[in-house]
Amino acid sequence: MKVVLREHLKEKPAAGTALGFGRYFTDYMFTMKYTAEKGWHDAKVEPNEPKPFDLATSIFHYAQGIFEGMKAFLQPDGSIGVFRPEENWARMNRSAERMCIPRFPEEVAQEGLETLLKLEKDWIPNERGTALYIRPTIVATRVMLGVHASTEYLFFIILSPVGSYYAHGLEPTKLLVEDYYVRSSLGGTGEAKCLGNYAASMKAGELAEEKGFDQVLWLDANEKKYVEEVGSMNMFFVIGGEVITPALVGSILPGITRKSCLHILREKGYRVSERRISIDEVVAAAENGTLEEAFGTGTAAVISPVGLIRYQNKDYSVNGGKMGAITKMLYDTVTGIQYGELPDEYGWRKIIR
Ligand code: COI
Repeated sequence: MKVVLREHLKEKPAAGTALGFGRYFTDYMFTMKYTAEKGWHDAKVEPNEPKPFDLATSIFHYAQGIFEGMKAFLQPDGSIGVFRPEENWARMNRSAERMCIPRFPEEVAQEGLETLLKLEKDWIPNERGTALYIRPTIVATRVMLGVHASTEYLFFIILSPVGSYYAHGLEPTKLLVEDYYVRSSLGGTGEAKCLGNYAASMKAGELAEEKGFDQVLWLDANEKKYVEEVGSMNMFFVIGGEVITPALVGSILPGITRKSCLHILREKGYRVSERRISIDEVVAAAENGTLEEAFGTGTAAVISPVGLIRYQNKDYSVNGGKMGAITKMLYDTVTGIQYGELPDEYGWRKIIR
């Protein structure tokens, strides 16, 4: 892999700095280009510096772009552990197909990531709860205003040392059930990790934040009846001993932390269902005392307990606003594997030295 070195390195955030999410970026990035003539080519690690783009570049106009989120963790023996990267590459190529972006070679992306991480190892924060967030992205780079798939793309990976996604850390989140705006509909782009899904979610997100909520809990677009996801997390509910997560009906992102939690739960013998779950079922369970836990899962959010859900102006407290036992078990198991504190029973830790 070609590596272009920079003359001066940036100053790293001092140990103990509140890193937040996506505020600091490392010295280098991985890039690779696509043209119709050459396919994917020119893979290299280069200094992470601003790039000039013509303002008619199609990504600015029609959002033909996709991204991923992964994390690298410093292991007790000093090596680097990345959580299930092959799952992210596979999902990114599925997103690419949905967005008419040419499939990229996953082995080249992985090699680029490994070269980049070895070079940027000193940027991996080493406190529990922190990680080096990995953001692979593909954007359409053809200078053109016609509404067609681009014939040129840029693939890049940037890195950001991060702390907790939510400003309040592991404190249970408050969710506002959105019954007007929708995130995605069947046949839409909800199961692809494409840029537009996140832009479309911002209006409802702002309104929820103004009311003091952390996130929006989306319902299905057709009937505004079934729980879908939170945008930055997939949702799980524990009702009367059954652990339920909405089935991947086509408008929900197939989360890798979601998949990992389902695996752990099934391995440990919990009663697990991937099925449609209506908001009426959730609030009825909250009312009759059978809603034991609710939590979200995601790369950035990890496993986040949900302490309060507001639906149609009524507040439903979950587990007295505290993290529940299953949520804690999943948090401890997933982060224990990620930080190299637990044996990697399922082969989810990709070690880079
Ligand atoms: C992630 O969890 O990595 C995400 O992409 C969610 C969000 C930060 C956009």
